[in-house]
Amino acid sequence: MTRVLSVASEAFPLVKTGGLADVVGALPAALAEHGVETTTLLPAYPSLAEVATGAKVVHRWRDLLGAEARLLAGTIAGHPLLMLDAPLLFARIGGLYDHADDWRRFAALGRAAADLASGVVKGRHFDILHAHDWQAAMGPAYLRYAPGPGPRARTVMTVHNIAFQGRFDAAVFAELGLPALAWAVDGVEYYGGVGFLKAGLEAADAITTVSPTYAAEIRDGRFGMGLEGLINVRRAVVSGIVNGIDPAIWNPQTDSALPRRYAATTLAGRAVNKRAVEKKFALDPGDGPIFTVISRLTWQKGMDVLAECLDDLVALGGRLALLGSGDAALEQAFLAAAARHPGRIGVTIGYDEPLSHLLQGGADAILIPSRFEPCGLTQLYGLAYGCVPVVARTGGLADTVIDANEAALAAGVATGFQLGEVGYNSLSHAIRRAIDAYADPAIWAAVQQNGMRADFSWRQSGRRYADLYASLEGQS
Ligand code: ADP
Ligand code: GLC
Repeated sequence: MTRVLSVASEAFPLVKTGGLADVVGALPAALAEHGVETTTLLPAYPSLAEVATGAKVVHRWRDLLGAEARLLAGTIAGHPLLMLDAPLLFARIGGLYDHADDWRRFAALGRAAADLASGVVKGRHFDILHAHDWQAAMGPAYLRYAPGPGPRARTVMTVHNIAFQGRFDAAVFAELGLPALAWAVDGVEYYGGVGFLKAGLEAADAITTVSPTYAAEIRDGRFGMGLEGLINVRRAVVSGIVNGIDPAIWNPQTDSALPRRYAATTLAGRAVNKRAVEKKFALDPGDGPIFTVISRLTWQKGMDVLAECLDDLVALGGRLALLGSGDAALEQAFLAAAARHPGRIGVTIGYDEPLSHLLQGGADAILIPSRFEPCGLTQLYGLAYGCVPVVARTGGLADTVIDANEAALAAGVATGFQLGEVGYNSLSHAIRRAIDAYADPAIWAAVQQNGMRADFSWRQSGRRYADLYASLEGQS
């Protein structure tokens, strides 16, 4: 039995701002099938209050990066959970991130993880410390430079998005409690400041990203965001493991957020959900295709390009139901498009988990024109729900969607539509291809069913993580 400490800043269903939470939340069940016991370590944000209340205290720090802290034990979806309870750091109003002392907050998370993974916390032992993204990345760095007295866990650093790096002023180095030698080009120093993700990538025994294509892309300056040199130096330990989806949460046959549940053989039932989408988004009822967007509204997601294509989408007979929030200018652009095209474009600015399920179960196609996409989950949900993905050919989108070109259609394997370099022409063209295919019910149903029958469970990827852990244990 391998014991893994999975450290992150989010995990569904307790706290979520994006795909990271879905993956961290799904991993324990995915890994259990392969003889791995996963304990998840999260900050005890106010949203965890219900799980934290009355939870057993398993450790106390009088001074964890300047804060008093306790470690509480609970469960998440039946698996072990540890919560870092440090009110000074995590009992905040506002968002999870972008606080002035984020360096202190997430250095504390890393320090706690390293303590757990090197014998400081009595009665706890882990074989592997698995750190997710920059918020957890100081874990491997502390383990490398300032471990506790016990045996040290081996470390895995997973990059869910290399654009978010946790970069801070050089002045914080003195407060991290690291030895002077950690201030080095192959340590925590990064372009003259402190780099959390950088430090984790240097320290970890193995590095993974969330798709094979993204693992290759980040070796290139266009995607590596300044870390491509380091990724190239460490390429022998870098691999890509594509995310799966949690079938307990994303399954159209059992989804309680859907007015009508259905399977690949009962696709006609989707029409009931489509009517519900029309109602929610004040769209004219009709038989033409409804596109959806469920996304952060950002440059990464190509949302500025999509906004330029909306007049064409409507002119071609399409409708759009968009759920998202993000950049103010993009929110305004989509609201303006909805005002220009009443009955054809409906926009909900916000974050709404049940509504995201309804859209997957009722819209015909989901648009994901990302400029880069480490894995992407909404296309996987789309595939599982017969909501055909229209995606950019990058990262995990390239690895999970098979373009409905002539060859793929003839071979019966097409699952969606891909576009190359994201721009007005390429996206408009992809939207037109999807609308044309929708007009042929036999082709459309085949594309939907191919996606619904594909396997995006965690089975294969869970095995890959388990194999990776086993190979690291073998080295120690
Ligand atoms: P990222 O993590 O880069 O935002 P992913 O595709 O990996 O992209 O994951 C996004 C997750 O967040 C999915 O579970 C998606 O359904 C969800 N999501 C994004 N925006 C919204 C929203 N406005 N309301 C509800 N869920 C959303
Ligand atoms: C990040 C990426 C996204 C990925 C998710 C989970 O948020 O942007 O592509 O699916 O992490 O790994």
